[in-house]
Order: sequence, then C-alpha cells, then structure tokens
Amino acid sequence: MYNWHKAMNISELAENKPTEILAGDKQLCLFKRNGTVFAFAALCPHTSAPLCEGWIDARGHIVCPLHSYRFNPANGYNSSGEGYKLKTYPVEIRDNEIFVGILS
Ligand code: FES
Repeated sequence: MYNWHKAMNISELAENKPTEILAGDKQLCLFKRNGTVFAFAALCPHTSAPLCEGWIDARGHIVCPLHSYRFNPANGYNSSGEGYKLKTYPVEIRDNEIFVGILS
C-alpha cells in the first residue's frame, strides 16, 4: 500500500535537472524528461554520493557525480554494469502536482 506524498507542481521542475525533495521521511531525487517524471533515492547505492548533484546522460539515465555509475531512473537498473540497484519510487501527476508513492 502506497502513501502518496505531494512533491511540487510539475511546472517547478526543470527539464533534465535532478532536484532533491523530502517525501515523508525519505530524501529523494526527482527529474523530468520529455514529460515523464522519475523519482529515486537521493543517495547513490554505491557509496552514497548525492545523485542530485549528478547529471542526465543522452539515454536519460542519471550519472552519479562521484564515480560516474549510471542508473535507469525508471527501474533502477545499473546501466553502466557495476551490479548495483538504485531504489526507485512510483510517480503520479494529479492536476499538475507531482505525487510520489512510498510503501507504508
Ligand atoms: S558513489 Fe555513486 S558511483 Fe560511486
């Protein structure tokens, strides 16, 4: 069962710019690309660098600022091949507001 947390209005989230939010008691990173919003853990699963200080590559994957591991923000897959998994969260847009689902 998800608890849905309102994050921000979709117009406040810049395209391809990772942005940190607090949803419930979780620090998350959001970014928007081609109208889709992704939510994932703010800290890298490798050694906990802040992913919101990273960048988005040409495939739309988040690149960690510390060691440049890459993750698909849709499913957390470690697309640069080191075998880690990024925790991702479901997103819904309701009346232009971004909601993130956290399992209760
Ligand atoms: S801490 Fe993110 S790749 Fe190492």
